[in-house]
Amino acid sequence: MTVVNARGTAPSLLTEGRADFPAGFVWGAATASYQIEGAAEEDGRGRSIWDAFSHTPGKVAGGDTGDVACDHYHRYAEDVRLMGELGLHAYRFSVAWPRIQADGTGPADPRGLAFYDRLVDELLAAGITPYTTLYHWDLPQALQERGGWADRDTAHRFAEYAERVHARLGDRVAHWTTLNEPWVSAFLGYASGVHAPGERDPAAAFRAAHHLLLGHGLAARALRAAGAREISLVVNSAPVLTPTQVADPSAPVAEADAEAVRRVDALLTRQFLDPALRGEYPAEVLEIVERHGGLAHLADGDLETIRQPIDLVGVNYYNPCVVESGPGEPANPAWPGTEDVRFCPAEGPLTAMGWPIVPTGLSRLLLRLSADYPGVGLIVTENGAAFDDTVEEDGRVRDTRRTAYLDGHLRAVHAAIEGGADLRGYIVWSLLDNFEWAEGYRRRFGIVHVDFGTQRRTLKDSALWYRDVIQRNGVLE
Ligand code: NOJ
Repeated sequence: MTVVNARGTAPSLLTEGRADFPAGFVWGAATASYQIEGAAEEDGRGRSIWDAFSHTPGKVAGGDTGDVACDHYHRYAEDVRLMGELGLHAYRFSVAWPRIQADGTGPADPRGLAFYDRLVDELLAAGITPYTTLYHWDLPQALQERGGWADRDTAHRFAEYAERVHARLGDRVAHWTTLNEPWVSAFLGYASGVHAPGERDPAAAFRAAHHLLLGHGLAARALRAAGAREISLVVNSAPVLTPTQVADPSAPVAEADAEAVRRVDALLTRQFLDPALRGEYPAEVLEIVERHGGLAHLADGDLETIRQPIDLVGVNYYNPCVVESGPGEPANPAWPGTEDVRFCPAEGPLTAMGWPIVPTGLSRLLLRLSADYPGVGLIVTENGAAFDDTVEEDGRVRDTRRTAYLDGHLRAVHAAIEGGADLRGYIVWSLLDNFEWAEGYRRRFGIVHVDFGTQRRTLKDSALWYRDVIQRNGVLE
């Protein structure tokens, strides 16, 4: 057992006023397979696009890879014990597709399934509800070699994989997320190339976005038919604002800026939620796709398949997106069709990622999504911050800025609930410091510190604070 921690009451940073959450509100923490598991070659696991990408020199800061990561594959029981100490209701994790089907096709590997079986049983024994994500970016490399998400067949392979995982875990897992952040998979993976598979082809990115959605629809249909109780799609969404609106939501906006805002919002949020929940693409996106490869990949019946009844939309929120009428110099390759839009540099207090801290953005976002997409529940599936945390001599990690970040965002969540948003829970990113994609291990999002040399886990002060929040079902004083 390598758990150390500073017990006792976490220092209070809380500003005035108590905010209680509704009875039954779900409190959780999240991770993802490639970011924590390690054991990259064990028990028949195949290679994923992130293995290939992280092993390509120059792609990930420090040359870091997920080969070992948090070694969670071997330490899952210890990690579940930590979750129990924190009193988590829910743990959101993802299944590594290449553990289930090494090359993305064919029968499920019983060794890969057995790992998630053990994890789920351990969670249930600790009284923690599993929230299972089927795709958090580790596509089998063999499928990438056949075109990856830019190829339509990958959507069918994904649905088949989803069915296999559900067949094994569905008796104990009620909550199923198909995809995590399809915008990131498509546009950082295939347009800017900052993420695996590292392509820079906007037309491929739009095809990937569509096939991800198709995969979502096919998998959601299969999961429902197999009896899944709760199905969700998780998006990275954010309010898109002009610089003046960040400080003053009611500030007047010039028409050219409003048009820039609409286009970026269409690409970021409506490109995914409109097809999934309304069965249509936003006009702004169709117009951009026409100029980037065309719409030949959109087959008859696809939109009906994509629009499956789902129970929840998971919202990953970190910061607002601030834009104005351009030109952006240089154009941002992750955002095809926005060459005349300027993405404004972040201002104000920043996290170690350089992301601005704007808690009010979360309440705006939740209220907007509940107004625009009525009838589907919401859950915050990620929110959190990276800071340069260190374990001090007395064994404590005094991550006061993270606690302040989380406290501010929980107040924003509370305001959204009071404003009428149907919000079911809040899941912090992340349980553990982990492999932060292109940033490697240098960015720490955990409420639990991980020493990557020794694999020692240390509860940060924010974890102790979160434990208290969960216990009282609210933030206070
Ligand atoms: C979103 C992703 O889902 C997660 O994998 C990532 O680590 C966090 N955001 C922080 O960037």
